[in-house]
Amino acid sequence: MLADSFGRVATDLRVSLTDRCNLRCAYCMPPEGLDWLPSPEILTDDEVIRLVRVGVERLGIREVRFTGGEPLLRRGLAEIVRRTAELRPRPEISLTTNGIGLTRTVATLREAGLDRVNVSLDTLRPEVFRKLARRDRLPDVLDGLAAAAAAGLTPVKVNAVLMRGLNDDEAVPLLRFCLDNGYELRFIEQMPLDAQHGWKRAEMVTAEEILAALRAGFTLTPDDPRQRGSAPAEAFIVGGGPARVGVIASVTRPFCGSCDRVRLTADGQVRNCLFARTESDLREPLRAGADDDDLAKRWVAAVAGKLPGHGINDPSFLQPDRPMSAIGG
Ligand code: 5AD
Ligand code: SF4
Repeated sequence: MLADSFGRVATDLRVSLTDRCNLRCAYCMPPEGLDWLPSPEILTDDEVIRLVRVGVERLGIREVRFTGGEPLLRRGLAEIVRRTAELRPRPEISLTTNGIGLTRTVATLREAGLDRVNVSLDTLRPEVFRKLARRDRLPDVLDGLAAAAAAGLTPVKVNAVLMRGLNDDEAVPLLRFCLDNGYELRFIEQMPLDAQHGWKRAEMVTAEEILAALRAGFTLTPDDPRQRGSAPAEAFIVGGGPARVGVIASVTRPFCGSCDRVRLTADGQVRNCLFARTESDLREPLRAGADDDDLAKRWVAAVAGKLPGHGINDPSFLQPDRPMSAIGG
């Protein structure tokens, strides 16, 4: 098991398949992009599967989420999904994507064994999308969402980050849009994970503000908190239900105490937290011929040292050296 010294057990593995992306969301990347990882450092498809297999077969991983960067940019994605679906016990397989390219790929991914998708959608206004994601691709994202629903990957989940002065007036329209289309919307408080270190506590749109904005358009009733488990979103029933909306208050109401995640970066480093200041290298031993047992031991040790929380609210907080695109959402 991947247990830490605070009694938490990691069963949810997030695998970043590439640090590259075709968008430049302001809360993630600078407009000019980043120095991408050199390809020899990126795990090959076989190496990804080897590590995921060790996680599933030996370490109790039950859920595998592929992220990026933008995971749809990874050429071998469908094959990676297919091989992951062959593992036993078969893990739940999901994808966090910006949606661009889903129209072309979603049927194949579904067939390969993909169970769920989370699509990032922060605005419904093309001109705001151009500013926020710095590319003119809103129609592609909306088409991708529709394609995911049509392919039966339901309920399609939508992630939205609100940024002050950019899209902070879109809470109600985003929820209306998601209700109309049967998508499950979750707002995520912006976290200090951008490469350019532009995050400012005082500028962050808080969960409380988001809820206040939503309440101007909808009646929200808190869902039974027992339903929450390790899920970071606080769920609210919209109107008379059954529709819901989630708010992930990563900063103002941290949920580190019930975290069940562990991350693997595209270059084969285990991160026991999004905000960890250290990583544990599995790629080196993997390439040097380590057996499954050795890899599993290193992984166990990496999770054992997990800190109790992210510490964003401490004065001494330091942002991780690598941005979200390199860590994996
Ligand atoms: N704060 C909060 N959410 C973020 N995401 C990316 N960067 C940040 C950030 N700094 C979200 C994306 C995507 C998921 C992987 O995480 O919108 O939905
Ligand atoms: Fe790309 Fe996701 Fe970062 Fe946006 S948040 S630039 S879609 S990796």
